Amino acid sequence: MLKAAVIGVGSIGQNHARVYREMEGCDLVGVVDASAQTAQKIGTRNNVPFYTDYLKLIEEQKPDLVSVSVPTSMHFDVASKLIEQGIHVLVEKPITSTVEQAEKLIALAKKKSVVLAVGHIERFNPAVMELRRRLREGMIGRIYKIHAQRVSPYPPRIQDAGVVIDLASHDIDLMRYLMNEDIVRVYGETLQSINSDREDMFNGVLRFKGGAVGVLDVNWITPTKIRRLTVLGARGFFDCDLLSQQVFFYENETGPSQWDTLSILRGVTEGNVLGIRIQRHEPLAAELSDFVAAVRDGRAPTVTGNDGLATLRLALDFVKSGAQVGVISQIAEG
Ligand SMILES: NC(=O)c1ccc[n+]([C@@H]2O[C@H](COP(=O)([O-])OP(=O)(O)OC[C@H]3O[C@@H](n4cnc5c(N)ncnc54)[C@H](O)[C@@H]3O)[C@@H](O)[C@H]2O)c1
Repeated sequence: MLKAAVIGVGSIGQNHARVYREMEGCDLVGVVDASAQTAQKIGTRNNVPFYTDYLKLIEEQKPDLVSVSVPTSMHFDVASKLIEQGIHVLVEKPITSTVEQAEKLIALAKKKSVVLAVGHIERFNPAVMELRRRLREGMIGRIYKIHAQRVSPYPPRIQDAGVVIDLASHDIDLMRYLMNEDIVRVYGETLQSINSDREDMFNGVLRFKGGAVGVLDVNWITPTKIRRLTVLGARGFFDCDLLSQQVFFYENETGPSQWDTLSILRGVTEGNVLGIRIQRHEPLAAELSDFVAAVRDGRAPTVTGNDGLATLRLALDFVKSGAQVGVISQIAEG
C-alpha cells in the first residue's frame, strides 16, 4: 500500500483526496489546507487526519506520494520541500509560476530520484485519448490545423495567475502531446478586462516544425463554459467536446486515401459523419492512477516535469508576445 496525501484541498484538491481514498493499492493518510475549516471539512468527509501545516502531516503520516494543489504561486515552495524529503510529487498545472522554479524542481526531483508529475489532466480525458489514438493511426493523414477553444466565466479564486498560464496551459500541453513536434514560433494577443493585473483573454497562434498551425481561443470573460478541440487534416476533421467527452469525425470524401500518393490532385467534399464511441471515465482518476503506477513501477509519469516546463515556457512566451505585440521564435525543444 502506498501512502498518499493531498496538500491544498480547495476546488481541485478535494477531488484528489476523494480519488486517492477510492483507489486500490493506495491509502489516503491525510489532507492539509491552510484554512482550518476546509482542512476539517475534507478530512472529516474522507475520514482521515487533517492538518493546516503540511510539514506536520509529513512528520506524522510519512506519505510516499503527495498531490500539491495549493495556488500556483506556492507550487514551487511546497513541492520542493516534499521532494527534498524524498516524497514523490504530482504538482497541479501549471508546474510553477516561473521557468527558473520549474527547472530547479526538475533538477531536484532527479537528484532525489523521485517521480515528479504535472496535472495536465486533459491528456487523460477519454475523448483526447481516443483522438490521439486515431491521429496516430493516420485517420486524417497530414494534419493542417489544431484548434482549441476554452472559454468560461471569471473564477474569482484564481488570484495569482493569468488566463494563459492558468487555462491555456491545458491546450498548449494538449497540442504538444497530440502533435509530438517542436513548436517553432508563437504569437499571442492578450486583453485585460476584469483581472486587475493580468490578462483574462487570450488568442494565440503557433507553428509546428512540420508546418501545422495551432490556434488558441481562451478566456475568462465568456458567460458560458466551452471546451472544444478540433483537428483538421487531409482526410477529414475531428470535433471533440472535452466536457461531454464526445468526438465526431467529418470525412473528406474526396481526400487522399491512406494508400493514395496523388493527394495533390484531390479536393475537399463533405463525406460521412461518424460519432465515435468513447469509453467514458473520470480524467482525474486516470491521472492519479498513472502517477501512482509511475511511483510503484519506477517509471516516468505520462506528464513529466519537463512537459510541464515546456508548456510553461510556451505560455510565458505567449504572454510576452501579447505584451510586446511580436512573434516569439522558439528555440527547438528537446
Ligand atoms: N487540473 C485542473 O483541471 C485544475 C483545475 C483547477 C485548479 N487547478 C490548479 O490547482 C491549483 C489550485 O487551484 P484551485 O482552483 O483548487 O484553488 P483553490 O483556491 O480552490 O484551492 C487552493 C487551496 O489551497 C489552500 N492553501 C493555500 N496555501 C496553502 C498552504 N501553504 N498549505 C496548504 N493549503 C494551502 C487554500 O486554502 C485553498 O483551499 C492551482 O494551481 C490551479 O491551477 C488545476
